[in-house]
Amino acid sequence: MLTWDDEMFAPTAAPKAPAQAPRPEQDPSLRLREVAHELREVVEQLQVGSPLPATDYASTAQAAQQAAIHRAPAQPRPAVNAPVISQRAADERRVNVADKRIINGATDVNQLVPFKYKWAWDKYLAGCANHWMPQEVNMGRDIELWKSDKLSEDERRLVKRNLGFFVTADSLAANNIVLGTYRHITAPECRQFLLRQAFEEAIHTHAYQYIVESLGLDEAEIFNAYHEVQSIRDKDEFLIPFIDTLTDPNFTTGTPENDQKLLKSLIVFACLMEGLFFYVGFVQILALGRQNKMTGAAEQYQYILRDESMHCNFGIDLINTIKLENPHLWTPEFRAELKSLFEKAVELEYRYAEDTMPRGVLGLNAPQFKTYLRFIANRRATQIGLDPLFPNEENPFPWMSEMIDLKKERNFFETRVIEYQTGGTLAWD
Ligand SMILES: [Fe+2]
Ligand SMILES: [Fe+2]
Repeated sequence: MLTWDDEMFAPTAAPKAPAQAPRPEQDPSLRLREVAHELREVVEQLQVGSPLPATDYASTAQAAQQAAIHRAPAQPRPAVNAPVISQRAADERRVNVADKRIINGATDVNQLVPFKYKWAWDKYLAGCANHWMPQEVNMGRDIELWKSDKLSEDERRLVKRNLGFFVTADSLAANNIVLGTYRHITAPECRQFLLRQAFEEAIHTHAYQYIVESLGLDEAEIFNAYHEVQSIRDKDEFLIPFIDTLTDPNFTTGTPENDQKLLKSLIVFACLMEGLFFYVGFVQILALGRQNKMTGAAEQYQYILRDESMHCNFGIDLINTIKLENPHLWTPEFRAELKSLFEKAVELEYRYAEDTMPRGVLGLNAPQFKTYLRFIANRRATQIGLDPLFPNEENPFPWMSEMIDLKKERNFFETRVIEYQTGGTLAWD
């Protein structure tokens, strides 16, 4: 087999004297000059420098030797088709499933496979299968109802306060993923889900904007509610320090203290933001839909609920796997801190429920929400291995389970079949 050097410096590449016909008897001194001339050509081609006197044979030979010395030293080069690194180095660099970790992993994050966290990949596939876009939903009936006098003032307040939280909440969620969580997760299957999740958060923000625009609501009022409405602001102020931890460019994991900070932020995000702070709002709009009001908005909330349910479940799997891989983080002090965060979140979400429907509306009232929030908080706590905070709470809205279990082909409020086309045929002309 030819080596790289063989190919580069094979005789065929060397300068050759022009082919000449055999000649009869030749003057020896003439032949000697010819040889000297050929040697000179060789030297020149080897970039020795200025031409040499034609008859200076000693100098020519010396120059040729110099040329060899000054030529770039031949580097050891791999054989043609040979790997660029040694087999041993290649083996060391290849991803070993056993070495993969959710946090502080040292394996190549660019190599999706071999899979270790198949649950993350499966959730990514499920998210893709549930793909939807807001503009697929017809808002005609909502617009007609909103313009009519068939909605009470309390119902209108509920819709506006509801959107006031959600229009910015999903943007905070997207920032938390893209600028924070993603950087700290070293399992590529989980990163793949997070990329899909980030896009879904963008779709949710799009959906809320689409509803605001369709109904002709005051955009400044709705989009500034998280600054101007106390119950919404309080929820966001609870979340922001945890988002700030993950998005701080100087924050890195790798110490027990910082790994606990990461884990705490992930728990707040999955269990308390996506898993609790969204649920009063979901119940409210879906309850409107069940009464045949704002059905376009309700249909979109139904898709969002399905997405968020997946985000929450992914987050819980992520948290539990980090716990499994880093059991030293799950200390009694850490669990006590989490318990108080859960209690605070329930309190804030209950205040939001009271603020959005001070007199009760749609057959719903704030005390029902207290029970519901305690029920959800118990569920989230036990899902990550904490004791229930409020034992013996029942779900006052069992119909919500049906909403979460929405199948792609069926829509709860309208019978229209939604079969989202992915990878449709492209026309190139
Ligand atoms: Fe979302
Ligand atoms: Fe989400």
